[in-house]
Amino acid sequence: MTARELREKYLEFFRERGHAIIPSSSLIPENDPTVLFTTAGMHPLVPYLLGEKCPKGNRLVNVQKCIRTGDIEEVGDDTHLTFFEMLGNWSLGDYWKEDSIKWSLEFLTKELDIAVERISVTCFEGDEQNNILRDTESAEIWKSLGIPEDKIKFLGKENNWWGPAGVTGPCGPDTEIFVDGVEVWNNVFMQYNKTADGKYEPLKQKNVDTGMGLERTLMILNGQKNVFETDVFYPLMDISRGALDTRAKKIVADHIKAATFILAEGVVPGNTGRDYVLRRLIRRAVRYGADFSLAEKVIEIYKDVYPELLKNKEKILESLKTEKEKFDKTLKQGMREFNWMLKTNAGEKILPSSIVFELVTSHGFPFELVKEIAKEQGKIIEEEKFWNKMKAHQELSRTASAGMFKGGLADGGEETKKLHTATHLLRQALEIVLGEPIMQKGSNINAERLRFDFGFARKLTDEEKNKVEDLVNKKIAENLPVNKVIMKLAEAEKTGAAHTFGDKYGDEVSIYFVGDNLETAWSKEFCGGPHVENTGKLGHFKIIKEEASSAGIRRIKAILE
Ligand code: SER
Repeated sequence: MTARELREKYLEFFRERGHAIIPSSSLIPENDPTVLFTTAGMHPLVPYLLGEKCPKGNRLVNVQKCIRTGDIEEVGDDTHLTFFEMLGNWSLGDYWKEDSIKWSLEFLTKELDIAVERISVTCFEGDEQNNILRDTESAEIWKSLGIPEDKIKFLGKENNWWGPAGVTGPCGPDTEIFVDGVEVWNNVFMQYNKTADGKYEPLKQKNVDTGMGLERTLMILNGQKNVFETDVFYPLMDISRGALDTRAKKIVADHIKAATFILAEGVVPGNTGRDYVLRRLIRRAVRYGADFSLAEKVIEIYKDVYPELLKNKEKILESLKTEKEKFDKTLKQGMREFNWMLKTNAGEKILPSSIVFELVTSHGFPFELVKEIAKEQGKIIEEEKFWNKMKAHQELSRTASAGMFKGGLADGGEETKKLHTATHLLRQALEIVLGEPIMQKGSNINAERLRFDFGFARKLTDEEKNKVEDLVNKKIAENLPVNKVIMKLAEAEKTGAAHTFGDKYGDEVSIYFVGDNLETAWSKEFCGGPHVENTGKLGHFKIIKEEASSAGIRRIKAILE
């Protein structure tokens, strides 16, 4: 069966049962600022699920394009995808469990000719804490329709509860349908609204929200081994045949497809939010050997169903090309840093996880690339340690709101402000004395001292330390004003102000500069502040320690006397 046939069969089946066919909505959710992409067909229906009257009626059906990025590392196996299509039908306070389950089974066994023996299901086991009952009602319906008891399992919230899509909103217990052990369909009985304080309050109406994975279902119907053999994928697998191994081919096909659809929505690769997801998809695809002619194939496969692809074809191809060029440049710059880190680590068998982490997070290196290069150099990577660091890092970035500044100061006390300004002077002085761009790798300031970590291969000589101190003290003596400007990120990048490579900044950033105007300023840096108004206030700057913080990273501790 082809994707087109399956879409048509599904829409027709539910149309015959009184459902209005609605178009797929955008991949960018309109109603929910807490989610980046539409992950299910119910997103645009949230107002109706909450009780608003839907002009199309109370039975709806559609095919929805979806993006899920939670499983990005799993892509490459048989079933995980970033972009997929979801076949869905909804009851907005109309039919309930009985019809929903009956029609699902009928569609699978009668329309798609799947033998009932191949089907098993799961139901919700209940949640005492929130006073939500075990869903024996659904189980009884399944039994009455011929599913034997041993094919009906009860599972908890991790498995048989869906939603809300974002932080708050409609949700409820679900019953999941498996064919040959593969989950194909999820029928959610949405009768709760999760509130901001984590409570589940009953909705005005009982809704049904179902979602069936198009690619998985096709794979099963055609007896294929994985979703990449279905007709929405195989043209993408063919084109690069031979050049890449199978896993890489799958990743490339998935990522280029997802990127093509996201680009068609007008999203541009960048450093925050969905822009960053797009960037990551494209860069990962490039890393795995993507050929952008695949994007043209994607457009070809879907152009009749999603006309926005063809309409935006030029823009999509152009964006992919530009992003690849940017990535190539990043890699080239990063390569210099990498080589230098390798040099500092020469003779060692192990490439420390701190270096790997640095390359991945600050220099945009794909982990696989670091691993490969290290291997070429006969070095072993501390993979587990690295992934632990990454996990901690991701948790941190999740909690930090997009666009927040790294190294922002918790307290704005006067001493802290002074040391913060001194840190900017120190970075610039190091750059001048050491004669190379100084990348901040971290900083920590308390009321007594500043700590500044930066990328540099060797110990500083006493002479260099003295020069740095002298230069900072000279700038303090010059009594220079400290100013701040706020500007768009793209403009800010053009000013040459120092910023942390690979950091995610918001659309607007503030730059602090030391001097009368931005252009001629002695020091300029992306920074959230706060700072003192004048360098004259700082007192006397003194380095109290210079040491290695990890391989290739030096740490300076300094005070103001
Ligand atoms: N919202 C449910 C899901 O995504 C059913 O469509 O699985």
